[in-house]
Amino acid sequence: MPAPKASLQTSGNNPVSSSRANLEAMVNGAGPYVFALDTGASGVGRADASLVEELALPPDGECYLCGPIGMLEAAKAAWAESGRPVSRLRYEVFGDSGLFAEKPFSVEVLNRGTRVAVRSDQSLLDALIGAGVEMIHDCRRGECGLCAVQVLGEGVEIDHRDVFFSAEEKAAGHKMCACVSRLTEGHAVIDVGYRN
Ligand code: FES
Repeated sequence: MPAPKASLQTSGNNPVSSSRANLEAMVNGAGPYVFALDTGASGVGRADASLVEELALPPDGECYLCGPIGMLEAAKAAWAESGRPVSRLRYEVFGDSGLFAEKPFSVEVLNRGTRVAVRSDQSLLDALIGAGVEMIHDCRRGECGLCAVQVLGEGVEIDHRDVFFSAEEKAAGHKMCACVSRLTEGHAVIDVGYRN
């Protein structure tokens, strides 16, 4: 029997537990449940291990998640901590919000002699394509990783807005998804073909 699909919307004013009761009534006890969860822009702190418990999904339950990047990162960590298969957590980035306000920055493309200015209202991916740099890309939402570039040098701060790289990779600061992530400001040398 196909899994019933339902949408669970939560926010700080609408706790998961009460919404879950409504959801259970909707699916009439049939499982496994499929949740679409949005804890809202302030929901980062709610996506912890206790939230996974609170959802009370069966061991093979799937969670469909949509929300701001901070919440998705926290949810991924909580999901992994609970020992559930990564393949059962599906997510979609809610916009491309980051931790810093968008500022212009510039990059130099390694071995191309190309310097590209990125406006505050423009993605690095679009700026590179506009400058004639061939880029592989697909989702444009920071999910597939196809547009990833390597950032060379030290002291460059990246506002990671993707859900592709792990927390460790983001902390290392050597790779970024050009479609959504950006330098907080300044200049960096990037390698657009480092995987070849
Ligand atoms: S195009 Fe998919 S992560 Fe950038």
